[in-house]
Amino acid sequence: MNILLLGSGGRESAIAWKMSQSSLCNELYIAPGNAGTASYGTNIPLSLTDFEEIKKTCINKQIDILFPGGEDTLVAGIYDYIKADSQLKHIIVAGPSQEGAKLEGSKAFAKQFMQRHNIPTAAYREFSNDNFEEGITYLQQHTLPIVIKADGLAAGKGVVIAEDTQTAVDAFTTMIKEAQFGDASKKVVVEEFLTGIELSVFAMTDGSNYVLLPEAKDYKRIGEGDKGLNTGGMGAISPVPIADAAFMHKVVQQVIEPTVKGLKEENITYQGFIFFGLIKVNGDPYVIEYNCRMGDPETEVVMPRLQNDLVELIVKMNECRLNEVNVLHDKRAACTVMLVSEGYPGSYTKGKLITGDKEITDSLVFHSGTSKKEGDTITSGGRVMAVTSYGDTVKDALKTSYTSAEKIQYEGKYYRRDIGYEFD
Ligand code: AMP
Ligand code: GLY
Repeated sequence: MNILLLGSGGRESAIAWKMSQSSLCNELYIAPGNAGTASYGTNIPLSLTDFEEIKKTCINKQIDILFPGGEDTLVAGIYDYIKADSQLKHIIVAGPSQEGAKLEGSKAFAKQFMQRHNIPTAAYREFSNDNFEEGITYLQQHTLPIVIKADGLAAGKGVVIAEDTQTAVDAFTTMIKEAQFGDASKKVVVEEFLTGIELSVFAMTDGSNYVLLPEAKDYKRIGEGDKGLNTGGMGAISPVPIADAAFMHKVVQQVIEPTVKGLKEENITYQGFIFFGLIKVNGDPYVIEYNCRMGDPETEVVMPRLQNDLVELIVKMNECRLNEVNVLHDKRAACTVMLVSEGYPGSYTKGKLITGDKEITDSLVFHSGTSKKEGDTITSGGRVMAVTSYGDTVKDALKTSYTSAEKIQYEGKYYRRDIGYEFD
């Protein structure tokens, strides 16, 4: 099968690595890809939201499977676009319809969906310009901290956890009155703050059945001890020690099954990945967010632990036969450490020469923000490379990743040295 994978991050590197191992994979194209994905397939330049351009590529390259790595393309409706076009509709899209992608694209939609299906989540209210004053009063009376979320996609920046009322009121006002995130913050979700440990659980659904992929935990803050600004993710571990059998049983019963069943009951076309961002509160799971795609850097540990053929899973998903699949998770732990550019997630310099990565043999090096310049690999983004290793334990896997991370060199290299710290 010919596959077109959209994206250029560590997530897409890990997916490309996994797909390239499949006997069902004929040609693999990654658009636009990075310096690393070129070793698993062919990179092609492409804008991720230019559907006409995606169509041309699908036809020219005789694509059988389209895999949008990130949410933007899905939320913009690529699934519906492909299925409405007689030249394209035979293509398998590994992702939901535009309506299904609203689970990620609209926090208000996700919250209402969870309420309708009794899925545990933080108590909340929805506000817009129409009930702005009521929102201010609500914030003033609410206990602290309180969480303010822009309804739509805001590149990971649309969530404010306010420790005091003034910060809450300011964030709320900026989002609604100053359209901080454009249309994405016309509507705002205000929710109760939950205290617990976060983790990510992934399912792949064919619309009726689902399979569970290995769970993971990512580390979002730039600084050690989870301090400082939020990033796209600085590392991840899998398995997650707090995801014991009793907890996972609750996750399946209270979260995953009602979600898959709810989508079906509401006739929402969904064949793809569901990423459940969960928080464990007193032993119980609550949904913090849904995403309609895999996580980054979680994918860099999930794919290495998934023993099934990913392309075969996608084909089975398309045939609504995921009930026939037995998903196998590698018994070993996998951990990833993200190497980033100095200054990230603020401003940083690109174009730094990277050396040492090709000599790494004990770890998998998944490129993220890298590109090629006259045969050299250079940095081209904030998150540069994810260094993934296996180990008998999370701690062993991390040790190997840290040894490998030392060997990769570029000016301004930074990484957190405490990934997995709570589970020492
Ligand atoms: P989201 O984009 O909804 O995943 O929110 C980003 C981050 O904010 C999450 O990963 C959590 O760390 C935090 N967060 C969001 N909602 C809550 C909540 N209700 N209680 C505590 N933390 C939250
Ligand atoms: N690592 C979190 C995400 O991909 O949204």
